Amino acid sequence: MKVVILKDADSVAQYGASVFVKQVKAKSDSVLGLATGSTPVKLYKKLIEEYRSGNLSFKEVVSFNLDEYMGLSGDHPQSYRYFMNAQLFNYIDIDKRNTFVPCGNAENPFSACEQYETAIKNSGGIDLQLLGIGRNGHIGFNEPSSSLASRTRVKTLTKETIDDNARFFKPGEFQPSLSITMGIGTILESKRILMLATGDSKAEAVKAMVEGPLTAACPASVLQLHQHVDLVLDSAAASLLKNCDMYRHIEEQNKLLLERIF
Ligand code: GLP
Repeated sequence: MKVVILKDADSVAQYGASVFVKQVKAKSDSVLGLATGSTPVKLYKKLIEEYRSGNLSFKEVVSFNLDEYMGLSGDHPQSYRYFMNAQLFNYIDIDKRNTFVPCGNAENPFSACEQYETAIKNSGGIDLQLLGIGRNGHIGFNEPSSSLASRTRVKTLTKETIDDNARFFKPGEFQPSLSITMGIGTILESKRILMLATGDSKAEAVKAMVEGPLTAACPASVLQLHQHVDLVLDSAAASLLKNCDMYRHIEEQNKLLLERIF
């Protein structure tokens, strides 16, 4: 796992956006795995800027989102489909028919999950998956104790996650306690993973993920098994890591190495 520690959330978004830009420039029909939450919003803004400046096109891109709330239709302002349209898809040239978000109000959610898996497979698999991390170490909506081999499925949200996400809902508004999420096994099949984490509320989860044991108690720790993960942190999210100096040293050495080779 490559651990990159930057000074603030803006630098994290800039770094993340440059990974996406390189990916789409290298493969115009990339399959992108996308995430919701407040962390990726700045990155999406930067991708919109890249598109507007004429530097990048998403015409051939296909995308799959990690998760969706069960019980919300795509036109509900709190649904993740709505979020993706409002934060990214409405402002770039992606073909919305190629943007997939699990269906929160499917008549049969179980077969909707199977169809989602099939659609990912048929697309050739995810080239680059963006991830955030929950305070309890969840990825997508794979809460602690999720099977590390799980596939796209219906998942109950923990009280902590419901409380954390309550800030997006108006008082008294229906807030789902179930979700559909890509499984951990599904996420692990992505060719490359980019995780962003910012702010001190994520410091404990980041520490457990990077320096703790591989355990379903911290689902994000499974990324220790993946061959190509970039974890990009601001200094607050990295503040509890024991080996910060080592990660910084490795990054400097990597930069020197790349300068020598190219
Ligand atoms: C939600 C999403 C996750 C996301 C997490 C963190 O629970 N399902 O994919 O990583 O929130 O969100 P935030 O970036 O707002 O902290």
